[in-house]
Formats: sequence, structure tokens, C-alpha cells
Amino acid sequence: MQTQVGIVGAGPAGLMLAHLLHLRGIESVVLDTRTREEIEGTIRAGILEQNTVDLMADSGIGDRVKQVGSVHHGIELRFDGRGHRIDFEELTGRAVTVYPQHEVLKDLIEQRLSDGGEIRFGVSDVRVEDITGDTPTIRFTDNDGTEEVLHCALVGGCDGSRTQTRPLIPSPDVRQDHFRQYPFAWFGILVEAPPSSEELIYAHHENGFALISTRSPEVQRLYLQVDPEDSVDNWSDDRIWNELHTRVAGDDVELKEGPIFQKSILPFRSFVCEPMQHGRLFLAGDAAHTVPPTGAKGMNLAIADVYILARAMGEFFESGETTALDSYTATALPRVWRAQHFSWWMTSMLHRMPQSSGFDLKRQTAELDTVTRSRAGRTLLAENYVGTPLY
Ligand code: DHB
Repeated sequence: MQTQVGIVGAGPAGLMLAHLLHLRGIESVVLDTRTREEIEGTIRAGILEQNTVDLMADSGIGDRVKQVGSVHHGIELRFDGRGHRIDFEELTGRAVTVYPQHEVLKDLIEQRLSDGGEIRFGVSDVRVEDITGDTPTIRFTDNDGTEEVLHCALVGGCDGSRTQTRPLIPSPDVRQDHFRQYPFAWFGILVEAPPSSEELIYAHHENGFALISTRSPEVQRLYLQVDPEDSVDNWSDDRIWNELHTRVAGDDVELKEGPIFQKSILPFRSFVCEPMQHGRLFLAGDAAHTVPPTGAKGMNLAIADVYILARAMGEFFESGETTALDSYTATALPRVWRAQHFSWWMTSMLHRMPQSSGFDLKRQTAELDTVTRSRAGRTLLAENYVGTPLY
């Protein structure tokens, strides 16, 4: 089997890369160990930057996100029992759209298949070889048990945070991993209830952070900061609601309760691998970097990577020029690090550190006060939350 670009991973990065390459007349094959049902059925967050929505629309897959995505013109930061709105529209003229990741994946898969694109779901034993030569190969076992060999000119490593492609960049000779662990995690619940607020609420409280988000008019997504060693078994529904009410308390908000139908604990870390390429392998999305969820940047960063990568690959196939490909890391990384900084900043401003003192809590409140009082402070937050333009 032969193609121009072999793509490992059918997540947002891999599928969007295949889609953007197709629009440039470049062929690809996407491989994933998961089935289509698993990929489309894994419910994930989805706060789409304006850039992401614009790129979806401009590349012909924007109909559903425009129809059913919910446009949010601001968020609320809560501290000292009061809400403070960050008005994206007024401050930046831009907005974000709440549209879960699996919906983006459904749109991409449908478009790829209707464009005649090849996605091999449910494959196993994927091995990428010869990335430093001119003709890398990807060996895998197809879902019917057949051994296959895919020959390609370039490889996209888009296989998420448990990537098998990243380790192909030799460490420490070539690859440096920058890693930060946080001393807390998010306990997330899905609730059958109407929204408690029109916009997302990010709440700072001495008991820890809480976030009120949404999935649809009928399903709400709420989070509590917990210890990373905590277990969902320690959290009865009553305890969850009590803690949410405490952390999001105030006269100006009323939490709407309902049956909790999913509980899970999410890991929390920051990670960047440099460089994001080696030979003919190019990493994109979570394979190359992870952000803590507070800034809602994960999927947007994956989409920004492949926007840059598709352009560079396009130049390579059109003219044989490798300049843009050679500088992929240099082009993509500054945005990655800005998103790392923003995600770390939101995280450290809003969460309670385990050993934090009264001084630390007051300092955090003062920081939130400084940011929300000042138009410059609100603008800085808003610009980063809605995302700086891709093009
Ligand atoms: C959600 C997740 C986030 O990380 C965030 O910042 C906002 C919302 C969510 O799951 O809805």
C-alpha cells in the first residue's frame, strides 16, 4: 500500500490533517487502533476557539458546528462569592463555541469518507519505521488480521498523549521533554439538568476550584478540584452537590441539580516535547504536548498544529521545497508555549495548592481582583481564551 502521508491517530489532529491535505490534493491514510464507534462515542470537552470554528467553516465542515454549537461571548470568574464577567465580544470582538470534541470528530470522519478518504479503524500493532530515510513505512495489522505495509513520503504522529510515535524521536540526543505535574486533579460529573448559567463559571474558593460547564441544554458538565489520589468512590452525590454549592456560592447563581450519570477523575499535567519533528515524522496535538484543562486549549492547539503542518506538507509535495517542513517546530512551538503559559496561569490563579497558606489565598484573590478590575487584565485573559488568529 502506498500513500503520500501516513497518519497515525484518528483524533482531531490526525483527521483534520487528512482533511486539510485532501483540500490541497494530497493523499493520506489514517490509522487508529480504536473503532469508529469508540472514537465517535467518547464524550470529550469542546470549547472551540473562533479560529477552530473559522477553519472548520472555511474548509467545508462548518455546517453542524454553526447550527448546533453554542456560541459563548464570555465567561465568569467567581471569587469571594461574586461573579465577574469577562466579556469576550466587547474586549476582542471574538467568541468561543461549545461543541464537544466527538462532534468535531463525527464531522471530520463523515467528510473524509464522503471525499473517498481512507481511515483504517480498529488496526493493531502499528509500527512506524525508517523515519530518517526517504521512504518511511508503517506496518500494522488490519482489523481482519491481515498484515499490511504502508509506504509513504511523510508521517503524521497524531496519536495522542499515549503516543507511540513520539518515542521515535531519540531522547535525549534529539528530543527534550518538558513536563510539569500538578498536585491536584479534576473530578468531573455529567448531570441531567438544565444549565445553571448561560456562560461557563470558573470559581476560586478556599476549598478548591470548581467549574460549571455544559454539554447541551439537557446535560451539564461540572468539575471540582480534588486530590489526584482521590477516588470517585469517595464522592457520594450528596457530597458532590454540597461541595459544588459551597465553592460556587453566591446570591447571583443558583446551581440546578439533577441525576449524576457519570463520574470520573481527570489527570492534570503540562507537557511539551521539542522538537516536534524528526526526519520524516511530524508530531501534532497531544502526541507533542498536553495542557492542563483549565484554559480549554487542548483541541484548539491540535488544530493549530495541523493547520501549519498541512501548509508545510503542501509546499513539499507541490515544489519539493522543504523550508516550511524544516521549520515546522519553530513555527508551531511559540503558540504551543503561549497556550502552555495561559493554561498554567489560569490553573495557578484558580486552584488551591495543597500546602497553601492564608497569604497564598489572599494573594490569589488579589490577582483575580487585579485581572478582572483592569480592562487590560480582562483583555489579556479574553485574547488568550478566544485564541489569537491562525490566519
Ligand atoms: C470544559 C473543560 C475545560 O477544561 C474548560 O476549561 C471548560 C469546559 C468542559 O469539559 O466542558
